[in-house]
Amino acid sequence: VFNTVTRQVGMFPVAQRQETSSSTARQVTVWCSNDYLGMGQNTQVIAAMQHSLGTCGTGAGGTRNISGTTRYHVELERELADLHGHQSALVFGSCYAANASSIPVLVKLLPGCIVYSDAKNHASLIEGIRHSGAPRRIFRHNDAKHLEQLMQADDRHAPKLVVFESVYSMDGTIAPIADICDVAERHQAMTFIDEVHAVGLYGQHGGGVTQRDKLAHRIDIISGTLGKAFGVYGGYLTGSSCVIDAIRSLAAGFIFTTALPPVVAAGALESVRILKQHHQLRERHQERAATLKAKLRAAGLPLLATPSHIVPLIIGDAKLCKAMSDQLLAKYAIYVQPINYPTVPIGSERFRLTPSPVHTDAMIDQLVDALVSLWRDFDMPLLPTVSASLPASSTFVSVPPPTRQSEELYAL
Ligand SMILES: Cc1ncc(COP(=O)(O)O)c(C=O)c1O
Repeated sequence: VFNTVTRQVGMFPVAQRQETSSSTARQVTVWCSNDYLGMGQNTQVIAAMQHSLGTCGTGAGGTRNISGTTRYHVELERELADLHGHQSALVFGSCYAANASSIPVLVKLLPGCIVYSDAKNHASLIEGIRHSGAPRRIFRHNDAKHLEQLMQADDRHAPKLVVFESVYSMDGTIAPIADICDVAERHQAMTFIDEVHAVGLYGQHGGGVTQRDKLAHRIDIISGTLGKAFGVYGGYLTGSSCVIDAIRSLAAGFIFTTALPPVVAAGALESVRILKQHHQLRERHQERAATLKAKLRAAGLPLLATPSHIVPLIIGDAKLCKAMSDQLLAKYAIYVQPINYPTVPIGSERFRLTPSPVHTDAMIDQLVDALVSLWRDFDMPLLPTVSASLPASSTFVSVPPPTRQSEELYAL
């Protein structure tokens, strides 16, 4: 069920929910948006888009190589390369397209290439790896030692590509990037990191976890989205001029499709520029996430321990998850989409809460109270309640063992 929630400028995270076309709309508080910082309603971004729309019109009018490249595309790519400290960038229609269409190009250019993929990689990365036809090895989630074992077992002369993410969107885990880079360097492997849930949010200028940890120079390709923290739409890759030029020249998902509308490129450009300069938004975002986690934990709600801004609450049953989400909406005007298979493995269905800098203390308290009532209404066990200041270890749940790894799920 796709809930119809219409966003209203100036109201985020409140939106208008309309159940049917004839029913009256009511206001709901959204707790599951990936517009992590509310940039989708930033007045400067809106003004930049209005200006571009008024001057360039609507669509790009062509593929990038046949009349679809505007100065907004060029400036955006320059800005993104600078954001990650890489030589070049390439903008795609989405990061799904960027991931899925660039990996086959890299594999094609490196005959005999073996791809090493984290077990929890996103569907777009899995699609790219599958489509490449390369032999692939799946390493246990965030396990650099396992990656090393797999590499040691392979021909040491074979070209190698390691594909992983920085922030994993459903469990909120963060990759041991330095360890993975160490392994990759020992085996002369290329590295491809998806920073979709980190760009705009981590690092002094929003360049992601690789920027925060000063590791971007050790990564060959960074992929990111313009549709989450940057609040607009589109995806991109950054890397050396040589690698980006190869992808630009060969990736079907870049070449044979209409370029991003200039208005979208203009909005993304403005958003990237703003977030480069406003680290306080990232600090406030982290503070809101920490406050929400502390209050959920103090109330005994079963949250996963995460080192990131993502706050997963495990429910573990698809029907229950949907019924609880429906009740949250109907009774408390709180919108949290149930996350079910195939986004997460069966048995680990969950609410995935995404606090933003503009979720207030009152909104957090209202959410926690509503969830506690909901847990009671549905006869769900609460964990022992603790003071928010006590150590966390005893009051977090762990991720239920997956029934099937995501790699297998997408084969279905
Ligand atoms: C980890 C990850 N990579 C890539 C994507 C695709 O990004 P986009 O929405 O720009 O297509 C997503 C999802 O939205 C994602 O969660």
